[in-house]
Amino acid sequence: TCQSHITHSATGTSIHRSMESTPAPPLLTPHKMGQFDLSHRVVLAPLTRQRSYGNVPQPHAGVYYAQRATKGGLLIAEATGVSDTAQGYKDAPGVWTKEQIDAWKPVVDAVHAKGALFFCQIWHAGRVSNYKLQPNGQAPISSTDKQVSPQMSADGRLEEFSPPRRLAKDEIPNVVDDFREAARNAIAAGTCYSPILLYFIGHSCTTTYSIRF
Ligand SMILES: Cc1cc2nc3c(=O)[nH]c(=O)nc-3n(C[C@H](O)[C@H](O)[C@H](O)COP(=O)(O)O)c2cc1C
Repeated sequence: TCQSHITHSATGTSIHRSMESTPAPPLLTPHKMGQFDLSHRVVLAPLTRQRSYGNVPQPHAGVYYAQRATKGGLLIAEATGVSDTAQGYKDAPGVWTKEQIDAWKPVVDAVHAKGALFFCQIWHAGRVSNYKLQPNGQAPISSTDKQVSPQMSADGRLEEFSPPRRLAKDEIPNVVDDFREAARNAIAAGTCYSPILLYFIGHSCTTTYSIRF
């Protein structure tokens, strides 16, 4: 469980101790983050990898994350969709089906086996999406019907976004529920906590919220 793991990580001060003769650089000193005792301050930022074929995490994700895990360290998983309307990138993982939850479990176990904490970043891409990524080729849902202008992707391709459908007020609670359910699913998969990435309000004011369960 997270708690037994945290207790375990509290003893993970090997980096600090091994540097008794020279003071450890601040980055490598322990840090208490809420209920969590980190043994250093190097955190893996969430990085969308687009290798979760069909939105299901693959076994190689366990290798990738475990390679970056250290005793008492913190990893934040790549943005993970809360529902089938949440996807904004091909082959990004999700956490809304049993298959996805089951696929996350060995990934989380591999990270915990190295003594690190693992947070799941749950998100909805809102209008930063296109018909091809949406169920039945529908319009991406958003708070607005204004389309995002095309953008150059990190690998130099021009990315186009489809005109979104502005949600009616009474549809918004469904999205809130998707986040609620995804947070529970992430915890069922073994992660401790879910930072939330929300493109929904309008991606020019992207906000990352962290909530505690
Ligand atoms: C390929 C790539 C994928 C990324 N994926 C995510 C993501 O899934 N979630 C997120 O919050 N940030 C994502 N980011 C942003 C990184 O986490 C961010 O670049 C990192 O925190 C470093 O911050 P900086 O770019 O301000 O230096 C991504 C960045 C890159 C380059």
